[in-house]
Amino acid sequence: MKSIVVLISGNGTNLQAIIDACSNGNIPGKVTAVIANKADAYGLTRASNAGIATEVLSHVGAINRESYDQKLIQSIEQYQPDLVVLAGFMRILTPAFVKHFNGRLLNIHPSLLPKYPGLHTHKRAIEAKDTEHGCSVHFVTEQLDGGPVILQAKVPVFTDDDISSLAERVHEQEYRVYPLVIKWFCQNRLQQRADQAWLDGNLLTTNGYANDDD
Ligand code: GAR
Repeated sequence: MKSIVVLISGNGTNLQAIIDACSNGNIPGKVTAVIANKADAYGLTRASNAGIATEVLSHVGAINRESYDQKLIQSIEQYQPDLVVLAGFMRILTPAFVKHFNGRLLNIHPSLLPKYPGLHTHKRAIEAKDTEHGCSVHFVTEQLDGGPVILQAKVPVFTDDDISSLAERVHEQEYRVYPLVIKWFCQNRLQQRADQAWLDGNLLTTNGYANDDD
C-alpha cells in the first residue's frame, strides 16, 4: 500500500476524488496527509472528515520561497510518502523542492498542455475561441507546467460557454484522469525517467497515454 501526501490550496474536489478512489479500492494506496498553504482551504475539512492527518503551512510571512519549500519538504517527509500529489496547490515550486521529490511528484493542470501553462486557462481557451479544452496530468519538473504529460482528457468548448460552465466540464474529467494516473503509479506501472514518462515499459508521447479510441 503506497503512502500518498496531497498538497492543496482550496476546495479540494480533486482530493475528494482521490480519497474516494483509495477508500473504494481503485487506488492501491492511502492518503496519509493533506497539507495546505491556506488555513481556510476547504479540502482540509474533506481530509478531516475522512480521518486523514492535516497540516497548514502558511506561505504568509515566509522569508522567501526557498525557506518555505524547505519547511514543506520537512512536513511532507514526516509521512514518508511514495508519492506527492499536487491537487490545486497554487504555488510555484523551487528547483530544490522539485529535485527532492523527483519521480514521485504529480500535478494536474486545467488545460491541454503544452497549451496554456500558468493561470486563467479556461478564460484563455474561451477567448482564443478554442473548440476543445481539457486537463493534463503530468510529472512535475523544474519547468512550470512543463513536465512530461501522462494523461489528458479533452472536452468540447461550446459557443455559449462561460468560465464556470467550462471549468465544471473540465473538472468532471479531472476526477476521472487523476485517480487513474495515481492508480497506475501505485501499481508500479508508471515511472519518470529524466524528462520522460513511461507506462508499462512504453515511452509516452507528448500528449501522454492515448488509447485506441482516440
Ligand atoms: C483544478 O481544476 C486543478 O486542475 C487546478 O486547480 C483546480 C483545483 O480544484 N490546478 C491548477 O490550476 C494548477 N496550476 P480543486 O481544489 O477543487 O481540486
